[in-house]
Formats: sequence, structure tokens, C-alpha cells
Amino acid sequence: MTQNEAKRMAARRALEFVEDGMSLGLGSGTTSAIFIEELGERVKQGLRVRGIATSIFSQKLAESLNIPITNFEDCPVLDLAIDGADEIGPGLALIKGGGGALLREKIVESAARRFIVVADSTKLVETLGRFPLPVEVVQMALPIVTRRLEALGLNPHLRHHPDGSLYITDENNVILDCASGSISDPAKTAAEIRAIVGVVEHGLFLNMASLALIGGEGGVREVRP
Ligand code: A5P
Repeated sequence: MTQNEAKRMAARRALEFVEDGMSLGLGSGTTSAIFIEELGERVKQGLRVRGIATSIFSQKLAESLNIPITNFEDCPVLDLAIDGADEIGPGLALIKGGGGALLREKIVESAARRFIVVADSTKLVETLGRFPLPVEVVQMALPIVTRRLEALGLNPHLRHHPDGSLYITDENNVILDCASGSISDPAKTAAEIRAIVGVVEHGLFLNMASLALIGGEGGVREVRP
């Protein structure tokens, strides 16, 4: 089984949690894109849902599939958010933001009654931190935030596109990827990063997901906190 097939299995299983009339948080990344495509098929067949996307890319994808898009003015509470993750640790502690959408992802997922993660089994880890932790930063504060993250031993690196240009988020901020290695106490690390003025958001999603659907060789495994 390829990694893509495992992602598709998880994304398809997530559709079983979607009910007619629901408002949905639509995630970002390749697994979420598969979910949005599958959701589009169901909408074509008559399913009535509306969504708020976690990135401009996902919003455009949803619109291209005629999935109605709403906003927090009209829909301040979402029934269900479905999104991928870069790492899934014990208690469903997540690292997210590899695709750069962590800020909108955290906003959308915190506004949802239920947040379900969709991923292939390569994302499961015993300790978070193999994947560099993304931290979104206001551009003018970059030099001071970089120093403070360095002082915490978090080894920040400014994100660039493969062509060398600076990576700018949908909200016009920059991202420092913190290659710190094992994060033994995610709540402590999250609190330390949050305390730095100039940090907009970090990619530790703690106590947010209630279920992870993990695609792999044996089918889709349901993992709970
Ligand atoms: C986007 O910012 C990330 O949080 C994604 O959810 C994450 O990178 C998962 O992406 P894949 O589904 O492509 O692995």
C-alpha cells in the first residue's frame, strides 16, 4: 500500500462522520485535500454542508467542487473539523503547520465541536519533535523572536520556498521551523513559546483532537487520546 492510498482510506473514513446539514472545518495538506475532493463528490450527490477552510488553497479547492463556504460571522461554531497532521503523539498531541497553515488551522479547529485528524500511519510517533515545530511570527519581530527561541534551545530556522524566496503565510507572517529534537513536555514548550511577544501561533495542537483516523496496512485504525 502506498502512503497516498493510506491517506485516502483515512480521508474516506472521515466522510462517515459527516452528516447532512453540518458545518465543517476543512483542513490543509494532502490528506485534507483528498477529504475535500471526496466531500465534493458527496455534495454533487446531494449532501448539504458548508465549510470554513484553513487555507486559501483549501478554500479554492472546495469552491471548485461547489462546496459552499461560510465564515465565522454566519457560523461561529462548526460541527466538525477534519484535518491532517505532521506528527501525532501520545494523547493525540499534534505537530501541525508543515504546510504553513497552522494559524488558520488552530482557529478553525478551536471553533469546532469535534476535531478529527486524518493521516497515514507514518505520522504516529512516541515522542513529538522529529518533525520541526513551526512557529508563526510577525515579520518585524523576527530578530527578537528568533533569539528567544534560540535561548529556549529550540533551534529555529526561517522557512523559505524551494526557490529560495521567503515563505509568507496566508496572514502575511513568517514561519520559524524549530528543529529542537524530542519535545518531552509539549505543554511546557507550548507555554514557553506562547509567552514570547511577536509569536502569533505555534504548531503544537494539544487537547484539541478527539479522534485520529490512521490509514495503514490493516485498514483504518481509530486512535483516541
Ligand atoms: C498544514 O499546515 C499542516 O498542518 C497539515 O495538516 C500537515 O502538513 C499534514 O499534511 P499532509 O496531509 O500532506 O501530510
